[in-house]
Amino acid sequence: MQRSDFGDQFYWGVSTAAYQIEGAHATDGKGSSIWDEFVRKKGKIYQGQHADLSTDYYHRYHQDLLLMKMMHIPNYRFSLSWSRLFPNGTGTVNKKGVDFYNRVIDLCLELGIEPWITCYHWDLPAALQAKGGWTNRSILGWFEDYVSFCIQTFGDRVRHWMILNEPLVFCGAGYFLGLHAPGEKKFNSFLAAAHHATLCQASAARVAKSLNSQLQVGTTFSCAHVEPRTHRSRDREAAVKIDAVLNRLFIEPVLGLGYPVKDLSFLRRMEAYMHAGDEAQMAFEMDFIGIQPYTREIARYDLFTPFLQANIVKATKRQVPLTAMHWEVYPPAIYHLLKKFSNYPNMPPIMVTENGAAFEDVLEDGQVGDKLRRQYLENHIAEVLKAKAEGVNVQGYFVWSFTDNFEWAEGYRPRFGIVHVDFTTQKRTVKQSGQWYASFLQSCR
Ligand code: GAL
Repeated sequence: MQRSDFGDQFYWGVSTAAYQIEGAHATDGKGSSIWDEFVRKKGKIYQGQHADLSTDYYHRYHQDLLLMKMMHIPNYRFSLSWSRLFPNGTGTVNKKGVDFYNRVIDLCLELGIEPWITCYHWDLPAALQAKGGWTNRSILGWFEDYVSFCIQTFGDRVRHWMILNEPLVFCGAGYFLGLHAPGEKKFNSFLAAAHHATLCQASAARVAKSLNSQLQVGTTFSCAHVEPRTHRSRDREAAVKIDAVLNRLFIEPVLGLGYPVKDLSFLRRMEAYMHAGDEAQMAFEMDFIGIQPYTREIARYDLFTPFLQANIVKATKRQVPLTAMHWEVYPPAIYHLLKKFSNYPNMPPIMVTENGAAFEDVLEDGQVGDKLRRQYLENHIAEVLKAKAEGVNVQGYFVWSFTDNFEWAEGYRPRFGIVHVDFTTQKRTVKQSGQWYASFLQSCR
């Protein structure tokens, strides 16, 4: 397999997110975000870790972008920290935050790396959470103002934009399971947040396109390939429900199909948060859709799971190869998901905006021989090629992640980077997987 097998028009890249790498959590006027606050709560993060410093990218982006250039990486997806730009979420702009992203973007362009921006990768300004955050319908106005500022400020140099990163995860883990910021555990909060995020992804995309029709505007979704545990009808029905939650809940409204209420009856309760005309407002013709496949899930019938009567069989109980996140390594998952999403009649081009794996890396004699990650990437990319060869309109692939970073509630333990970070010295070491990706990207085009 060579890069040229994908053609000239394929976007290859790496992905990161502001809170996971930047550090400088209170530097140069940055306001607090829900993650800055959540990491300070007891027992929420592995070993009480936080990302106050993380990879110190805020001060080291220059070195990281030079490394990216040396690795022949042509596209770089990163997110903007809302509270670095607007310390209170709305109102006064923090000029030093704007300067920072201008420096990052300008350096990317100088180095021949195309910047791709995610507007929101989970770090809501704490000041807005104090007003209810995603559960408050006013987020529509706050978010539109924020996104239109970003487009007006950076849209002259950045062509590709993603509105949200994985709404299911920040609404589900953040407002229902309490595992992520802001740590709420209320089903109604989840429903409200989910509906507002659904409206925001469309309305902010609409605003972005109306400000500059030349831009390529999309949004990203988490996803997992779902199979039933057995062929019994109850397990198959469970798989339909789990699939609707993991893969359909947020994308179908954008495609104009509404919420998948038929398969998820609990979504009827969403009506409490819906206003007249919302259904039409949820739809928007995106220029592309980002999908972020990592694994496969096995679903089974379970009487005791509220709302769903369906559950996931943990990968640790299935005797399958695992990553350090305890996710199954199953490369065909990405192929099945590409096929699945491309089956929607009005599906825009698909980008794989994240894919990658955490493994127990060992730094020895200045090297990280992460054979498993190299194989993971190679095998997943081969599955992307297979889907593409069968006619799926997939136009890009971004590795999660460039450097090791702060993996949310899991702290620094799972390392996802193709570049190793020593969090004591901040030394970067390109892993074997990074060397492989670099030579793949350089292979005859
Ligand atoms: C995604 C998320 C990233 C990263 C990755 C690995 O869900 O967008 O921020 O954490 O998973 O877990």
